[in-house]
Amino acid sequence: MSSTVPAFDPANVQGDILVGLPKKAQQYIIFQIDDNVTAFRKALNNLIPLITTTTQVQQDRTKIANNKKAAQEQGKTPKLIKLSGVNVAFSQAGLTKMGITDDLLDTAFTAGQLKDSKNLGDPGKDVDGNFVPDWLPAFLQGNIHGVILISGDCAATITETRTTIEHIFSVGTPNATLHEVTTLIGKVRPGPEDGHEHFGFLDGISQPAIEGIDTNPNPGQETVRQGIILVGRDGDGIANRPSWAIDGSFLALRYLFQLVPEFNNFLKGNALTGNGLTPDQGSELLGARLMGRWKSGAPIDLAPTQDDPALGQDASRNNNFRYDFTDDQTTTIRCPFAAHTRKTNPRADLEDIGFSTETRRIIRRGVQFGDEVTPQEAASGKTALDRGLIFAAYQSTIPNGFQFIQISWANATTFPPQKPFTPGFDPIIGQTNDDSVRTLAGTDPNNQTAELSLPTDWVLPKGGEYFFSPSIPALRTKFALAA
Ligand code: HEM
Repeated sequence: MSSTVPAFDPANVQGDILVGLPKKAQQYIIFQIDDNVTAFRKALNNLIPLITTTTQVQQDRTKIANNKKAAQEQGKTPKLIKLSGVNVAFSQAGLTKMGITDDLLDTAFTAGQLKDSKNLGDPGKDVDGNFVPDWLPAFLQGNIHGVILISGDCAATITETRTTIEHIFSVGTPNATLHEVTTLIGKVRPGPEDGHEHFGFLDGISQPAIEGIDTNPNPGQETVRQGIILVGRDGDGIANRPSWAIDGSFLALRYLFQLVPEFNNFLKGNALTGNGLTPDQGSELLGARLMGRWKSGAPIDLAPTQDDPALGQDASRNNNFRYDFTDDQTTTIRCPFAAHTRKTNPRADLEDIGFSTETRRIIRRGVQFGDEVTPQEAASGKTALDRGLIFAAYQSTIPNGFQFIQISWANATTFPPQKPFTPGFDPIIGQTNDDSVRTLAGTDPNNQTAELSLPTDWVLPKGGEYFFSPSIPALRTKFALAA
């Protein structure tokens, strides 16, 4: 990266990265570039005006907030504003296909996620000496060049935008310049489950605040330098990247299936007891201790024995904890060391022994996919329909961000370090491809060293890829060609 770093302008950064495309539904069109690469790059030039920038997303979010406020003042339920957003990102294979040979100096991105799947612990098997993860065929071909993200207030708005985009790339004609490998269709859950992932827990609560963007962070919300998320900005630890990569970000996309009835059955069968808990309360408490938050979003570090929905909703309080209560540093009375939120952002567990967690922070922009659990699935305790999370996370280096969190934290049974007993696996996403049974300790507040065995993985990776989401100027000057 050259020594003269241009001033930061949010209009240069794609909108999903720092602020997030507003969405009730979303499509990730995973595509392959066809052989007429010049025609593709010319068509890409026509996509650029459709790309939603950070500045536009900020304006859209203000519109949404004003609309909500106005409706509330009139005692009405706010109607959704018709909005659609578009972003684009490319894999290493896509860069190579376009003849872009500069090295982005990100080992995970360069190798691609398929090659990384064994390290990530994805279940799979060896075939002729090669590891093949249990992914869907679309992700096993090695032909993914890019992804177009379309967000919107509803599926119909997305379909309209998609038609425009397909027209730009002449899709469906003999002159098509790209074709779909697969499309991941995301939608938020209905009614009161809006904002909750499929196991039922409120998601999207804890994100790092970004310097210069989130100028009014909530109590407990860590502010990180822009370069933790954006390539080339202060905080990006990788030197000598190509100068055009500035203000881009790496996107780790994972197609994660969730076995919801099986998860619920496990909670029921292993409900915590004692302290006057009813079976339902015991299973809710176990779920909260596996996740680190109650379904309402209330962190168990602040509400260790019973849910506090008002706390879950309150952004001024629901991130204001560090796992540093005197009892909590050596015990797990409040929160198991291996709880999902503690594994993926350990706060005082590292900070108080002299390590910063700043370089490990990622911005999560996932969305749910699939329908609600049917009564038949609930009764049988067996998943029949596909559902889960399209996990999407941005960072300036994948090896320091997503890859590190998955491998060195979630899958590492001895993390967090220097604890009086082995924490075990992150029960939500921790995984191993060696067939051993996952365990964790600390789930029972009355018997902390007792290990809980997890009979199955409830989150199953079924595909994914690593992408680079370039800045708007890079799209113009490096990726697209003028018509
Ligand atoms: C289906 C899979 C997953 C589910 C159901 C899930 C669920 C959740 C929930 C409910 C929260 C709490 C809400 C919040 O703090 O925003 C959370 C937080 C978080 N998750 Fe996940 N997650 C999944 C996958 C992942 C993966 C693959 C990673 C990274 C490897 C990850 C990293 C994080 C991080 C960094 C946080 C914030 C922790 C904090 O700052 O306190 N999650 N997740």
